[in-house]
Amino acid sequence: MTERTIFWDYASRSISLIDQTLLPAEYRFKKCSTVEQLAEAIRRLEVRGAPALGVAGGLGIALSAAVSESTDKTGMLTGLRRDAELLKATRPTAVNLAWGIERVLKTAEGCGNPEEIKEVTLREAEAVGDEDAAMCRMIGENGAELLPDRCTVLTHCNAGALACSEWGTALGVIRSACKAGKEVSVISCETRPLNQGSRLTAFELSRDGIPVKTITDSSAAMLMRKGLIDAVIVGADRITDDAVFNKTGTYMHAVCAKHHNIPFYVAAPYSTFDPELSEADVEIELRSRDELAFCGDKMLMPDGVEALNYAFDPTPMDLITAVITEKGVFKPPFDRNEALPGRRDI
Ligand code: MRU
Repeated sequence: MTERTIFWDYASRSISLIDQTLLPAEYRFKKCSTVEQLAEAIRRLEVRGAPALGVAGGLGIALSAAVSESTDKTGMLTGLRRDAELLKATRPTAVNLAWGIERVLKTAEGCGNPEEIKEVTLREAEAVGDEDAAMCRMIGENGAELLPDRCTVLTHCNAGALACSEWGTALGVIRSACKAGKEVSVISCETRPLNQGSRLTAFELSRDGIPVKTITDSSAAMLMRKGLIDAVIVGADRITDDAVFNKTGTYMHAVCAKHHNIPFYVAAPYSTFDPELSEADVEIELRSRDELAFCGDKMLMPDGVEALNYAFDPTPMDLITAVITEKGVFKPPFDRNEALPGRRDI
């Protein structure tokens, strides 16, 4: 997949994004012409995946400026800051959402008047998307070298083109390895309860002609034990000084990979690092009971039983072989890596 998954639509003055909740049955773009619509699209996971959320956040600020009726800079900035808080509150775990919002908001603060704010925020938000696309290619190239020819890679959730501007992080590594002529096949964990693996990863890889098989999340350990997995590659929502936060279930795969001596790679843009935070500082998004209790209209749990639906989990650094970024491949522990400054230094 090389088409953009989320972008500014000039004709309708709105954000256009692939509605990922409809996949794989329907591939359809939807338009968000208000910040409230975008916030709802993020909450519902119509747009999802850490880098795509960064782009969405940036475009959200540009949208806030575009629809603002304020005639003075102060009034417009007040509205932008209010919308920034609304958007940030939609999903707390991925660092990229707040990062994209703050980056674009900062450019607005340096402007002289509302017209300039509209122009500059849109330019900056589009730059976030363009840079993400370029970073994913670099991540892909850096990671492709780590994969042997004729290998089988296990991945969890969707860290593909759909989760980014295009190409993907974990799936970007796989795409780049294939492009370099390596034979790579993929085991995609279905990723309960929202099935990003079976719905999205399988969709985009099969569309690209990359061999992919879907498994239940719980059969990953057995496949590793049988020697059928050569490497695990996942994306990340936030990387603290001691852990990688990614879709719930990632930790389980990392423990199993360590046990079976299988390399466990994380592929993520450098901006995913949040080294001033530790595992305990990160809020893990707790999602609704309904996601576990129903499959469409079918009830999967008795009435009255509660659910504990954590969307992400932290994987400690000692289980991670390396983090693949656009700036290179970093091996934990990171405090020994002088080339890894705090995110503020970027
Ligand atoms: O809840 P989601 O679907 O937004 O979770 C996405 C993930 O956990 C991805 O692996 C992560 O954001 C990296 S995407 C390149």
